[in-house]
Amino acid sequence: MADMPSPGAERAPWTPTTWRDRHAEQQPEWPDEAVLDGTLKTLSSYPPLVFAGEARQLTADLGRVAAGEAFLLQGGDCAESFEAFSADSIRERLKVILQMAVVLTYSAGVPAVKVGRIAGQFAKPRSSAIETVGGVGLPSFRGHMVNDIAFTAAARVPDPQRLVEAYHQSASTLNLLRAFTKGGFADLGRVHQWTQEFVRSSPEALRYERLAQEIDRALRFMRACGLDPDTVPALHEVDFYTSHEALVLGYEEALTRRDSLTGDFYDCSAHMIWIGERTRGLDDAHVEFFRGVGNPVGVKVGPTASTDEVLELCEVLNPGRIPGRLTLITRMGADSITDGLRPLLRAVTDAGHPVVWTCDPMHGNTFTAPSGKKTRHFDAILGEIKGFFDAHAAEGTWPGGVHVELTGDDVTECLGGAEDLVDDDLGLRYESMCDPRLNGRQSLDLAFRVAELLQS
Ligand code: PEP
Ligand code: CO
Repeated sequence: MADMPSPGAERAPWTPTTWRDRHAEQQPEWPDEAVLDGTLKTLSSYPPLVFAGEARQLTADLGRVAAGEAFLLQGGDCAESFEAFSADSIRERLKVILQMAVVLTYSAGVPAVKVGRIAGQFAKPRSSAIETVGGVGLPSFRGHMVNDIAFTAAARVPDPQRLVEAYHQSASTLNLLRAFTKGGFADLGRVHQWTQEFVRSSPEALRYERLAQEIDRALRFMRACGLDPDTVPALHEVDFYTSHEALVLGYEEALTRRDSLTGDFYDCSAHMIWIGERTRGLDDAHVEFFRGVGNPVGVKVGPTASTDEVLELCEVLNPGRIPGRLTLITRMGADSITDGLRPLLRAVTDAGHPVVWTCDPMHGNTFTAPSGKKTRHFDAILGEIKGFFDAHAAEGTWPGGVHVELTGDDVTECLGGAEDLVDDDLGLRYESMCDPRLNGRQSLDLAFRVAELLQS
C-alpha cells in the first residue's frame, strides 16, 4: 500500500487505537459492529488482569535470559477452552510446568523463567478462513474467544459476548495460578507432589523422583548447616507469568491501560503477549499495536522470515534495545532450523539487539497423519530443539528457551516419546481443539533432554 509509511521511517505518535488505521490480518468478521463496540466499551471499564509492575518484572527476568543467565520455559495449550475449564485442569498444567522448570534448574543449574500459554490463549489464526467438510463450507473456528468449534453455521458466527467470557475465565485462571504459586503449592518441599498420577510409574517419573530426593537432601543439608529454608521465600513460591497470542486487537486495546507510576501504556490482558507467524507484517496492525505497549513482547519467526524483516521487527518493537523487551520465537521446522537460524543470529547480534531467542519446536513440525489427525512427532520436536542449540553453539549466542504446546492430561496427540505413540493411538484421547500437545510424560521427557543439551 503506497500511502503506508515504511517501517524504518519515523512513525506517527502511538496511541492504543493507531492499529485501527492499518491492515489487520486474521480478525473475526463480527456480525454487528455496534454490538462489538458496546462489548469492547464494557471490557475497557473492567479491572486490569495483570499489573504493569509485574510486566516490568518479567522484562527484567527476560533480560537475564537475553544475557545468557537464565532459560525461558513457555508452555501451555495451543488454544484454551471454555469447556475444559476447571481447577483440576489449571493445576495439572501448572504441575507439568513446575516439574519441567525444576528439572531444568536442578540439572542444568540455570534459573528458569516460567511463562504459561494460559489465562488468555483463546484466539487462533487460521490458514483458511473457511473449513470445508463433506462439501459444506463454514467459517473456520477461531478460538473460544470468537466462535464455537461445532460444525454448524450458528456456532461459527463470531459472538462478542465471548470476549467478555474470555476475560472472566482469564481472571479466574489467574486467580488460581496466583494462589497455587504463592500459597504453598509451589513449595520446593512439595516437588514429589507435582507428578501426574498417570506418569507415576514411568521411567521419566522415576528419573524425576530421584531428582526430587536430591532436592530433599539439599534442603536437609541447609537445615543441618543452621540455615533455615523456611525463611527463604524463593524456596516456597515461584514467579509464574501469563502469555498469549494477542490476536484479536479490539480485545487487547480494551485491556490496555496507562500505568499510573510511569505514564506508559501496558496491555493488561497478560504479562507477555506475542505476534503470530501470520500477523507479523511490518506495516500491519499487530506490529503497530505491539510497538506502543510496555509489556515484554514476542514475535514468531518462521522459515520465510528474511534477515531484513527480522532486523526491522527488532527496530520497530525495541528501538530502545531494552534487554528482555523482545523475544524472537523461532519455529522453522526440524529440517530448516540450523541453516535458517544462523544468519538471523548473526544479523541480530551484529545489529546490537539484545533479544531472547527461544525455540518453538511445535509449529514447524505439524503434519496430518494417515488417520487424518493433525500431529507432530516427538523426535522432530526434539530434533528442532537440537538444531536450535547447534545453531547457537556455532554462532556463540545463548539458546534462551523453549516454547511448547503441552497439557497435564494423559492425551494422545503427539507421536513417539517414551511410550512410542503411533498413529493408531491418536484416536484414543485426542482432546486438543487446535494443535496437538505434548502430554505429561512427553513434557517431562522433553525437559530432561533439554537439560542435557544445556549441560553440554
Ligand atoms: C500457535 O502458537 O499456536 C501458532 C498458531 O503459532 P504460529 O503463529 O507460529 O503459527
Ligand atoms: Co498451536
